[in-house]
Amino acid sequence: MKLDVRDIDVKGKRVLVRCDFNVPLKNGKITDDFRIKSSLETINYLINHGAKVILMSHLGRPKGEYKEEFSLLPVKERLEKFLGQKVGFLSTPDVVNEEVREMANSLHNGEVMLLENTRFVAGEEKNDPTFGAELASLGEYYVNDAFGTAHRAHCSNVGVGSLLPSVSGFLLAKEIKHLGDALENPERPFIAILGGAKVSDKITVIEHLLDKVDILLIGGAMANTFLGAKGNAMGKSLVEEDAFTVARDLMKKAEDRSVRLVLPVDLLVTKDIEKQIGVTNVDVSHVPEDAMAVDIGEKTLELFSSEIEKGKTIVWNGPMGIFEIPAYSKGTFGVAKAMAATQGVTIIGGGDSAHAIKLSGYEEEVSHVSTGGGASLEMMEGKRLPGIEILKDKESHA
Ligand code: 3PG
Repeated sequence: MKLDVRDIDVKGKRVLVRCDFNVPLKNGKITDDFRIKSSLETINYLINHGAKVILMSHLGRPKGEYKEEFSLLPVKERLEKFLGQKVGFLSTPDVVNEEVREMANSLHNGEVMLLENTRFVAGEEKNDPTFGAELASLGEYYVNDAFGTAHRAHCSNVGVGSLLPSVSGFLLAKEIKHLGDALENPERPFIAILGGAKVSDKITVIEHLLDKVDILLIGGAMANTFLGAKGNAMGKSLVEEDAFTVARDLMKKAEDRSVRLVLPVDLLVTKDIEKQIGVTNVDVSHVPEDAMAVDIGEKTLELFSSEIEKGKTIVWNGPMGIFEIPAYSKGTFGVAKAMAATQGVTIIGGGDSAHAIKLSGYEEEVSHVSTGGGASLEMMEGKRLPGIEILKDKESHA
């Protein structure tokens, strides 16, 4: 277990906190503040314990240049609303300069400031020692609460973490506990549900999960590739023919390891995604030549739901179809409903699945929704995440 904020005495100390405030924006407005809300527990703890709080994050991919649309200004405003206090902020392309240093040094206990987008500096993503040292010079302690960025080795997490006494925030600890426990010590049956577009993106995830789970349910467009590899004609559906061999290997591995790999038995298809022409439910062996799969079918949803009902640990990553279009959302939202209804521990990987559970209305009824898309996938691949590795273990500190 990693040391966390409760293991350090933060009173009167400048505490540099890496959050993942990489939130979606539309016309300068935040469209989903889940990641900001998830960071509040740690920030409030630090405020209430008299720390001088210096928050940092990236936003989007500005590629080492100042771009106004990637400024963290909207995040500062949302934070002020949530925290009910002022958050100091200087929008500067170099992120750390004399003025910023002065602001950090004149913080009083319980006050908060936010640095500008760390990715405005080219060194950030290269974990450049100079920028890492500049960031670290602002604080006396470092708290990493950015699970969503834990798979990156950048200045604002790994760089700073190697220079300051480093502990985890409550969010990061919660993410490690939920995903880590599920993968390392699951109550069985352990079920994973995978969806999304491509098998090729998730080969290592599937391989790793085949060593862990009892049942693997596969939906979404990636199921088309498995179904195609089994000899089904998939019409105009998205299929990766060059991944057929991999798909067959994975099915063989599942069999060898006595993992039940469950594929759709029927699909919702359409002849035109936009115009929604010829939307119909068909058996996987009867996909019309001119139609494409856009969701799992009704029988498949029943089948998946009955499996989910029996699970004691269920991890879900990737939608079952094009859930953003209501006509094709039944499978994804149905899986969300089954997750909400089961008695088992239910964990939603971040990214699209987190967005889907939110739209489905079942967000509050699952055990944990991860704030990390890429990070939770890498954890499901069995990889060690650099942003977590850099933090001290409780054991090694004792
Ligand atoms: C995410 O949204 O997954 C994280 O904030 C990481 O962002 P990145 O993929 O741009 O590094």
